[in-house]
Amino acid sequence: MKGKFITLEGIEGSGKSTSLEDIANVLDKNSINYILTKEPGSGSLGNDLRSLLLNNDNKISGEVELLLMMADRKNHLDSLVIPNLNNGNWVISDRYLDSTYAYQGGGREMDFALIDGLSNSLNFPAPDLTILFDLPVEIALERAKQRANLDRFEKEPIHFHDRIRNTYRFRAGEDSKRIKIVDSSVGFQEVKDQVVNIISQFLNE
Ligand code: TYD
Repeated sequence: MKGKFITLEGIEGSGKSTSLEDIANVLDKNSINYILTKEPGSGSLGNDLRSLLLNNDNKISGEVELLLMMADRKNHLDSLVIPNLNNGNWVISDRYLDSTYAYQGGGREMDFALIDGLSNSLNFPAPDLTILFDLPVEIALERAKQRANLDRFEKEPIHFHDRIRNTYRFRAGEDSKRIKIVDSSVGFQEVKDQVVNIISQFLNE
């Protein structure tokens, strides 16, 4: 694979999606070809899976939720991510595999070994760089609530989100070379500065 694979991660309301534009600007300045994408929900199958997963009316077990996320990921990788990386394009994905460890492993308390097993058997590639947008759950949920409708995940109680944040932070501690933490409790401009620094440093490696 010739392109670089960068993923953005964080709890609800962590501000990662708004940083996509800042990353795109740095890549533009460096004349790098890239695509911006997200999980769950790429392409028409992904869109359908996303609706199933986020719809509040659906009662979905932890196992089924995990398998649907993995199905969405496999489809995303095969149809979009891998072909682009092979063509030399960079791929910037809003959420990827760390979300599954954090949400299904941490949040839903599913067995981490099951996630390892599925992701190894399906040959999911590791990202080259992951930016984790981190802030206290209370602040993040306040921000998320400003948006109109809360989805199936956003409606979960605070301990669910605490477990997600803790899992993310634990993973970042275990793999600090790949996962860089941005403190997103600070102001808009400061978050942007941190993101631009991380991407610039990555470009210089
Ligand atoms: P989305 O509206 O894209 O949320 P956000 O803007 O916070 O990224 O919804 C995606 C939801 O799916 C989000 O709550 C996290 C969840 N999710 C998982 O539980 N596991 C996963 O593997 C992925 C990719 C997402």
